[in-house]
Amino acid sequence: KNSAGKPLSVRDKQHIHPVQALEDCDFSQIDIALFATENNVSKEYIPCALENHCRVIDSSSFYRLQEGIPLIVPPVNGDQIKQHDRLIAAANCLASPLSIVLSSLMSVAPIRRAVVTTFQSTSGAGKGSMDELEQQTHSYFNQQPLIPRYFPRQIAFNLFPQVGEILEDNFCTEEVKIVKETQKILNTPIPILATTTRVPVFIGHSIAIVVEFSENFSMQTIKEKLRSMPGIRLVDHHGSDYLTPVECQNQNDVFVGRLRRDPTVSHGLSLWTVSDNLRRGAALDTVEILQLMLNGSAEGSGQNPIG
Ligand SMILES: NC(=O)c1ccc[n+]([C@@H]2O[C@H](COP(=O)([O-])OP(=O)(O)OC[C@H]3O[C@@H](n4cnc5c(N)ncnc54)[C@H](OP(=O)(O)O)[C@@H]3O)[C@@H](O)[C@H]2O)c1
Repeated sequence: KNSAGKPLSVRDKQHIHPVQALEDCDFSQIDIALFATENNVSKEYIPCALENHCRVIDSSSFYRLQEGIPLIVPPVNGDQIKQHDRLIAAANCLASPLSIVLSSLMSVAPIRRAVVTTFQSTSGAGKGSMDELEQQTHSYFNQQPLIPRYFPRQIAFNLFPQVGEILEDNFCTEEVKIVKETQKILNTPIPILATTTRVPVFIGHSIAIVVEFSENFSMQTIKEKLRSMPGIRLVDHHGSDYLTPVECQNQNDVFVGRLRRDPTVSHGLSLWTVSDNLRRGAALDTVEILQLMLNGSAEGSGQNPIG
């Protein structure tokens, strides 16, 4: 509604569309709607779209865990999209890269448990939260008070182990989402312990992943499987085997590096991943799902379906 009437250009300046308020939308004129909105907006308008025979891809978390609604991360379970699916949920921006990496590792050996620690950029919480990091940085250098509005604590020159609300059992909502969504995408109740942190980065989510396999594995097989998994780029140049959030921006791949054996358990592996959260787990997943709905195949993560 805020943007109604503003020009929106798609791909190039020759395709400029004025933004229309959702409440004025006639869904019967639309074949497929892509919702990139908060839960309450998806909850209110998606039933209306479906009633008007419009197919829907939803990026919000509202429908993701509902029984019977496919939760799709195209490189992992894109083959589950059926011709008759009317509504498909796209995954959280951590659950998507995590499930891609775990899916690849599960093809090496069964996973007994995984421990993940996230380092999430401010854009994961929307435009207003990105602006808060910028404003607080400005206030810091101008010796003005740093007032949190979107976040629970100061974000500039700081970090905090809370993404979303803290629940009664002391987990936060993002930790629950990551675990439950990843289990649904992988179609297995793999035990995952998650700690989610918000860091003063604009774009790019990082995850430190520790996996315990139930049997021995070879590092060479791990690397081969990661290399051949669509959506992953293995970074294994000796001495420089990782990427940072700044380096992954505007790229589609989940970059995996810092592979090392965990010496504290029998069959453990530790690794580092980073991905552009505005693409993988957001716009890219949605566009790949759209391609699968239309053509039966995504163009491929190495390509650039979102330009
Ligand atoms: N950011 C990520 O990394 C990420 C990843 C995966 C999923 N998601 C999910 O995607 C959704 C959007 O997140 P975001 O980061 O893009 O948030 P955002 O930057 O805050 O953008 C929200 C969008 O929703 C629109 N909107 C708000 N109220 C509306 C209404 N009543 N009717 C129609 N449109 C309305 C806003 O339009 P105006 O500008 O006109 O107000 C804006 O374009 C959320 O559900 C989020 O959980 C985000």
